[in-house]
Amino acid sequence: MFDVVAGARPNFMKVAPILGEMDRRRLDCQFIHTGQHYDDAMSDAFLRELRIRAPDVHLGVGSGTHGVQTARVLVAFEEHLLRARCACVVVVGDVNSTMACTLAASKLGIPVAHVEAGLRSFDRCMPEEINRVVTDAVADLLLVSEPAGLENLAREGIPPEKVAYVGNVMIDTLVAELPAARSATILSELGLCEHSYAYVTLHRPATVDSADRLAAAVQLLERISRLLPVAFAIHPRTRSRLVAGPLYERLSGNGRICLLGPQPYRAGLRLMASARLVLTDSGGIQEETSYLGVPCITLRSSTERPVTTTAGTNVVVGEDVANAWAAVGSVLAGQHPTGRPIPGWDGHAAGRIVDELVRRFGRQSGQALGSAAASTISAERPGPGAPPTHATGVTTAGG
Ligand code: UD1
Repeated sequence: MFDVVAGARPNFMKVAPILGEMDRRRLDCQFIHTGQHYDDAMSDAFLRELRIRAPDVHLGVGSGTHGVQTARVLVAFEEHLLRARCACVVVVGDVNSTMACTLAASKLGIPVAHVEAGLRSFDRCMPEEINRVVTDAVADLLLVSEPAGLENLAREGIPPEKVAYVGNVMIDTLVAELPAARSATILSELGLCEHSYAYVTLHRPATVDSADRLAAAVQLLERISRLLPVAFAIHPRTRSRLVAGPLYERLSGNGRICLLGPQPYRAGLRLMASARLVLTDSGGIQEETSYLGVPCITLRSSTERPVTTTAGTNVVVGEDVANAWAAVGSVLAGQHPTGRPIPGWDGHAAGRIVDELVRRFGRQSGQALGSAAASTISAERPGPGAPPTHATGVTTAGG
């Protein structure tokens, strides 16, 4: 049995194609929802739209400090694993649920596969960076989505036989949903025209938890709104910081700034795909805009997804809003990078992920790890588009 874990909004678009591929191959798998995100807008709306089955197990952990949230997932997932007959846990991304489930499983001797392994911002102030480093240090199979991930894992001394380049599974969801997203009615509902507005998402603690930085970001949106209408999809964390002071009221009084809640998948994709530019501090949006060829300005001092800046459409401007304002000028002057295709971001990553899982852990439900480990699997090239690397295949633990 494969346990496929998701907890927070950015996980759902990553597990959807993996669960779909496992179902197509009739593999024995369960969908475990930790409940880190629990609002309809942050969770269930994505399950419905992406046709993800109802969770087989819901841990219901909810919000809390990092310690509390991580501990609740750890306790609840361990209890689940002690009851279940799980042969492999599949975790995705870098949220607290990813790290907590990895720790619970590995302490019980259950192998863990990490999808989106090897990403590093080299900024330990980001909670996600701690989650990435811990998860990759402990996981048994590291499934990498971007070329820098291979270098990072090699530098950290991870044996190459534990690593495979599979490409970007979130792009599978984007490719599958783009036609439906193109017919979403959100632009006309908001009175926005194709390629003539800015789409904004900001939610990271580093951007929104400091009153000064949040005020500077709001001022930036006001400046942009003099050039282009702004659609601002507001995360619950950001909303709570804005309403704590005068900023929310100031924004809502601006007729050129549309204040939106967290967007469902297709509406968000439509808003992104049709924007003149995107301003964000999200990780996934840097990747999605690169695939779509939409200019992205990232209001952060680092990115764990550097291929989006070398081959994509992303410019990381740092935390100073003056740089972001200059980047807006570059976009409008037609001087922003246009990007080119990125290896393995092709809509077929889930197939390569499930190939690796089956090769490594076997396809039979509840197959004992020992029997999977008995055969050594030769290294093979990954699916089409993946870059050549020494780390393109996996061997079993005993191999
Ligand atoms: C989490 C992830 C982050 C990801 C983001 C996407 C970690 C460390 N961070 O950050 O990597 O980019 O999700 O959204 O795992 N809240 C709600 N409803 C919900 C969930 C949260 O209102 O369904 C509110 C709560 O007040 C909570 C706050 O949002 O305190 C923050 O949520 P939390 O899950 O702690 O972290 P995110 O900022 O969402």
